[in-house]
Amino acid sequence: MQLKRTVPWALAFAILLALAFGAGAYTGRRYGGSLRGGVRDAIAGQTEQAYFYWSRESDSYRQKGQELYNAHCSTCHGADGKDGRAPDLTGPRTKNADALGLARVVREGIPGTEMPPFQRLLTHRESFQIVAHLLEPKGEEAATNSAAGDPAAGASLIREKGNCLQCHTVGEEGIPVGPDLTNIGRSRSASYLRRKLQRPQETVPNVYRPIEVIKQEGVTIRGFRQNEDTFSIQVRGLDGQTHSFWKRDLQGVREIEKESFMPSYEGVFSEAELDHVVAFLASLGAP
Ligand code: HEC
Ligand code: HEC
Repeated sequence: MQLKRTVPWALAFAILLALAFGAGAYTGRRYGGSLRGGVRDAIAGQTEQAYFYWSRESDSYRQKGQELYNAHCSTCHGADGKDGRAPDLTGPRTKNADALGLARVVREGIPGTEMPPFQRLLTHRESFQIVAHLLEPKGEEAATNSAAGDPAAGASLIREKGNCLQCHTVGEEGIPVGPDLTNIGRSRSASYLRRKLQRPQETVPNVYRPIEVIKQEGVTIRGFRQNEDTFSIQVRGLDGQTHSFWKRDLQGVREIEKESFMPSYEGVFSEAELDHVVAFLASLGAP
């Protein structure tokens, strides 16, 4: 009698354990690591994973995924998944990724980057619905965003004609006035990179909003606000150095609206040269 009662419990326990450890075995290159959030969450994830394979072909399931995508992802990744400032999600890198890896990126984000975790905003099911939407085959589209230019030609353009290393670092080279470009191909879509070169002022992040410090003598220093309190302000100048000022020594600080310190390369580079530069940037850090 005793034994009969324990056997089903032991069995149930063993199944739970298997599920929990199974969840830890989620694979996926840069999406590695184990699922956080405890055993209960892991089991919910496993259940959802099974449900995903069952329902991913269903239109209503993908439709829900599309709606959730529009609500949560399109601001960064673009309405159609490829015109945003964040990486293209319509190319082979996404289409060939595995569903679990993608679901985990959605749940946990990519630490140390702008890709946020959605654990608190989306249920497991919702994450998988978005994944079903992302993995939906869309025929011709896939190849359109791969840059047409020649990366080797782009590499010399950024050094010579573009003078980009005067403000950017690529690996060990360059001066860090603007953002580091070493892995830019991983974090930005090709269409964003092209727009950045043509109309840089359209997408200036707050930390790079240009300001101008006007000293008593009328001398101005341009740069980015690094730190500020009631009495002082620290500015990172276009020379890559930090300059510190007492506010009482200044005439004022002016925000420069709708501008970037990055010059526009529209008309500087030909269309073909733009293609080369974009192809080179897209190759930086791309796996
Ligand atoms: C605040 C902007 C932002 C939002 C919102 C956002 N992402 Fe991202 N996402 C990024 C950035 C930036 C990266 C690139 C990170 C890196 O590697 O530098 C990224 C990377 C990714 C990657 C990996 C791409 C690759 O090729 O390696 C996937 C997949 C992804 N996001 C899916 C999503 C989904 C799905 C949503 C909505 C649930 C979403 N993202 C919402 C900014 C965002
Ligand atoms: C005079 C300095 C300067 C020069 C020259 C310059 N940039 Fe920039 N760049 C910046 C600054 C500052 C930012 C950040 C503000 C912004 O996004 O507009 C920036 C932003 C960028 C970004 C966006 C980075 C991101 O994470 O979103 C890219 C890409 C870029 N530059 C590429 C280039 C390339 C390629 C060249 C040469 C063809 C170049 N820049 C020349 C100053 C410069």
